[in-house]
Amino acid sequence: MQQIILTDYEQTPVLQDVAIPEPKEGEVLVRIAAAALNPLDVKLQRGQAHAYFPLTFPSPMGTDLAGMIEKTGSLTSRWRAGDRVVARLDPTKGGAFAQYAIVSEDQLVLVPEALNFNSAAGLPTAAGTAWQALVESADLQAGQTVLVHAGAGGVGSFAIQFARGLGARVIATVSGDGLEIARELGADQVIDYRSEDFARRVTDIDVVLDTIGGDTQQRSFDVLRSGGKLVSTVSPPEQALAIAHKVESAFVFHISNAKRLSELVKAMGAKDHSVLIEGVFPITSFAEAFERQASGRAHGKIILTF
Ligand SMILES: NC(=O)c1ccc[n+]([C@@H]2O[C@H](COP(=O)([O-])OP(=O)(O)OC[C@H]3O[C@@H](n4cnc5c(N)ncnc54)[C@H](OP(=O)(O)O)[C@@H]3O)[C@@H](O)[C@H]2O)c1
Repeated sequence: MQQIILTDYEQTPVLQDVAIPEPKEGEVLVRIAAAALNPLDVKLQRGQAHAYFPLTFPSPMGTDLAGMIEKTGSLTSRWRAGDRVVARLDPTKGGAFAQYAIVSEDQLVLVPEALNFNSAAGLPTAAGTAWQALVESADLQAGQTVLVHAGAGGVGSFAIQFARGLGARVIATVSGDGLEIARELGADQVIDYRSEDFARRVTDIDVVLDTIGGDTQQRSFDVLRSGGKLVSTVSPPEQALAIAHKVESAFVFHISNAKRLSELVKAMGAKDHSVLIEGVFPITSFAEAFERQASGRAHGKIILTF
């Protein structure tokens, strides 16, 4: 089977032929139909995630996958060949950018026929992080106002939809085509971050979702109401700033969870949510897909097919 691997940090990912693995007890072999890239794949390749996710080489790449169960290992009773599934693999082990992957049965979530594999693959990390940040960390409530940075990005595109679904008012920072995309996803107000300073446009925000870090994160403290919350997916916010602004702040470290992923899969059908897709690339065009992800300019998810 074909699989994308890293031979070392900062090396160009390579497409290799390797043997199809055999599932062991409690595992299944998934024939992958689609996989999604994430900024984490780029950070892993650059060695920037080594402190959280140290790699041993050669290291198979990719965490988010969707496909069909090909074979089950012994004592794997909850799943059978032909089941449509989605999963997030351990980033230190990877393996989603391949024609087949071994997945522990506890990580699998059933995908209904109504959700196609490209969309399902786009969910685990990006949608999981958006939900973890807005609901589990910030406890966003109906009637509150949330500022979502990078509203047309992978995490932001889900965050806009989830926040709207919760009954919050949504303001998003975007640029270019992102303005229209964010409006269509449900943003009540969009701010072109290239031509306008969001910190001058908004005030009294209940929750800020920071997906950018640096200066954007620092200036986000200025737009929060007293008692508001800043949650960042990029870097731990400065506690001294949080205290000075009388707000709460937190870093969201995504921990995948099959129960949450299962709820998100259901929400895609039930709540008129959708997965924003930037582009679909065959695995043979991995370099192009990876470069697009690394640009930091993607509007939605970049999907690989096999
Ligand atoms: N802590 C965790 O566990 C965790 C989990 C998931 C993601 N993350 C991190 O969260 C960040 C966002 O992830 P993602 O998947 O959403 O990334 P992404 O899809 O690559 O985000 C790309 C988007 O960012 C926008 N953007 C770039 N600079 C901007 C700025 N200054 N203001 C507003 N928008 C800007 C781009 O819009 P334009 O093209 O219009 O510029 C583009 O649409 C990444 O750093 C990722 O590593 C962390």
